[in-house]
Amino acid sequence: MKGKKVLVGVTGGIAAYKAAELVRLLIKADLRVEVAMTRSATRFVTPLTFETLSGNKVIAGMFDREDMAMDHIRCGQDADLIIIAPATANIVGKIAHGIGDDFLSTCMLAATAKALICPAMNDHMFLNPAVQDNLALLQKRGFFIMAPESGELACGTDGPGRLPDPSDILEQSLILLSKRDLEGCKILVTAGPTTEYIDPVRYITNRSSGKMGYALARAALRRGAEVVLVSGPTTIKPPPGIVFRPVKTAEDMRRAVFEHRNGCHMIIKAAAVSDYRPKETADQKVKKGTESFSLDMVKNPDILALLGETKKAHPCILVGFAAETEALVKNARKKINAKNLDMIVANDVSRKDAGFQTDTNAVKIIYADGRVEDSPLMGKIDVAHLILDRAKALKDESP
Ligand code: PMT
Repeated sequence: MKGKKVLVGVTGGIAAYKAAELVRLLIKADLRVEVAMTRSATRFVTPLTFETLSGNKVIAGMFDREDMAMDHIRCGQDADLIIIAPATANIVGKIAHGIGDDFLSTCMLAATAKALICPAMNDHMFLNPAVQDNLALLQKRGFFIMAPESGELACGTDGPGRLPDPSDILEQSLILLSKRDLEGCKILVTAGPTTEYIDPVRYITNRSSGKMGYALARAALRRGAEVVLVSGPTTIKPPPGIVFRPVKTAEDMRRAVFEHRNGCHMIIKAAAVSDYRPKETADQKVKKGTESFSLDMVKNPDILALLGETKKAHPCILVGFAAETEALVKNARKKINAKNLDMIVANDVSRKDAGFQTDTNAVKIIYADGRVEDSPLMGKIDVAHLILDRAKALKDESP
């Protein structure tokens, strides 16, 4: 993925300002970005904005760069992906009907790269049969069309026509740029903490942010898997295109996991599940009274152990996580055996740059046959890809 090249085409609609955020996100995802703007787009946002964000000269006019006479051919052929965002009704019509009367439309005529078209316009314009027919034609020809969102539009009306959030366009772009080696594979991921209620306003939880589990869900989705994400409470937006099951308690998580386990090829349990919960949850807020207060706790179901016990009837690659502060490998190995796992990902959560809440992680992957593999410190998305690579290899080897 790193270093792949994206051409962003920006056309003249009010949503052009959102394209600046898209370019920033693409650069942050380690992609190389070139921007082509129509003349109308430059009235909404200046090329300088995109040049600063992308680090590359923006191409707006057919004859802007006399030293690069073949830009209109090169740009759409050496890119791995072209994103047109926002795409006006005008550019959609021109691409559909082979009109090349400016730089971007001419470039699209000669383009060989995959293209993602993100229409954004007034709702009546979007629903106009001519625009709908043009979009259908483009889709039939292999263009990827990202449906606009419905809601309040800049022109004051309410309806479909809003450019999707740049983070969602980024996600769709990464799906189009990724290898699709998990197509046909159903993967269930758990993420985040669980919350165990003491009364309606107080609960016991832990430091899991969900970043590791969401990275796994994202990576699996990008690689073509059907993904179910069962998540405790987090502040992370689930990626569009997955089945999302938000839960609160360990018991909720157990129910959701067992509801979705049928047909899973891999189950990856990155969630930090509370081992215990209060024996009773008070109906009303517990009042301050005595000097001390003790809480009677009972054991929660061990979801992973239950999956392991019933693995014969539901064969799949079962991956656990272990959060440890000492004897990392020894403790993680005990869990592999006790829970009948194929693999466990051990986190040293005493490190500042790994484990809970961090954007990076360094893990030890321990296999049922005793092998141990160390990962370097990497972004959680890269750790997620590594875990999926290893789980896929186990799946491919299994009878
Ligand atoms: O969410 P982040 O902030 O990104 O942090 C990531 C993480 C540190 C939470 C994650 O990478 C991690 O290590 N998750 C597992 C934490 C944990 O609960 O470990 P454990 O050793 O207590 O549990 C072992 C395994 O059994 C885990 O896969 C857990 O999901 C599972 N389990 C545990 C208890 C229980 N009642 N049911 C379970 O299924």
